[in-house]
Amino acid sequence: MSQDVILGIESSCDDTAAAVVDRDGNVLSSIIASQTHIHSRWGGVYPEFASRAHALTVVPTIEKALEEANVKGPDLKAIGVTRGPGLIGSLIVGVNTAAGLGLGWNVPVIGINHLRGHLCSADLVERRVELPAIVLLVSGGHTFLARMESLTSIQLLGSTRDDSVGEAYDKVARLMGLGFPGGPAVDKLAKTGTPSIPFPRPMLNEGFEFSFSGLKSAVGRFLDKNPDVAHADVAASFVSACMEIMITKCKRALEAYPAECLVVVGGVAASPQLREGTMELCDRMGVKLCLPPLKWSTDNAAMIGLAAWDYLNAGVMPPLSATASLPITEF
Ligand code: KG4
Ligand code: ZN
Repeated sequence: MSQDVILGIESSCDDTAAAVVDRDGNVLSSIIASQTHIHSRWGGVYPEFASRAHALTVVPTIEKALEEANVKGPDLKAIGVTRGPGLIGSLIVGVNTAAGLGLGWNVPVIGINHLRGHLCSADLVERRVELPAIVLLVSGGHTFLARMESLTSIQLLGSTRDDSVGEAYDKVARLMGLGFPGGPAVDKLAKTGTPSIPFPRPMLNEGFEFSFSGLKSAVGRFLDKNPDVAHADVAASFVSACMEIMITKCKRALEAYPAECLVVVGGVAASPQLREGTMELCDRMGVKLCLPPLKWSTDNAAMIGLAAWDYLNAGVMPPLSATASLPITEF
């Protein structure tokens, strides 16, 4: 019997994920097969290994998600699958699997923009986002500020000229031997240190664009010159620089454009420092803060499933092909 639920599939980077979500963003099941154990020894994601692992785990992950939600494939309303941006080999595994299943089950398959998935993560479990909104998306692959008036009206205000903030966290973690992914480890260490080192804040006083590669290099040079320094102070100083940059840019955007809320999404939205900093900013500015539930800040398939509901409601059906680069302004 047909059910009002969508299966989301996510395989754009290093996690194979499947989830079943209803139209209100309630998550009936969410399974994530992590590849951290495969990539950690390289200090970053090894694309070919990622695709091979996706190919092995995608079907069992989907089966588990359906079983946990007690839904049969042919009874799904639709399948939403990440079509980009991301690692092309990884994306192809998800898209082709979804296309095959859709054909076999006679269920429509919608190709989803991963970045729009992150946007939807702030609406999981409970609809929070009110428009117009300023969006800060900070992940391993992306860092940008955007203005959102509706699903079809998103304007990019500024993105990073080089590294994403998540990438900077991961590289700094590697320099300090903290393992991969580095974000949570750097945050944790930072909490035990003092932000006493004046690392640069690139582009702090200019517009909405970001740059993190100079900051990352400054941390590297400082560690080379000061091998005996307390790593906790380095982590605290690095995080403090990242926070000042992100909070200043958000404030600038909120001052420049009318907004009901600030939406902060992407893996780095799991950072307690960023959650606290944006909360303080929003309190001061009288704006609502919309954060995804912590467990759905990093990559997952529930956000892809919820985005698929938006696409379905808006009648949007992008081409079902894997696309390595895809801006937030597109579907
Ligand atoms: O959104 P995501 O899961 O994957 C991409 O789409 O890129 O983001 C992953 C990034 C990684 O760089 C990771 O280090 C970072 O998010 N991250 C964090 C935290 N948890 C994950 N960064 C800072 N603090 C965290 N707690
Ligand atoms: Zn992501």
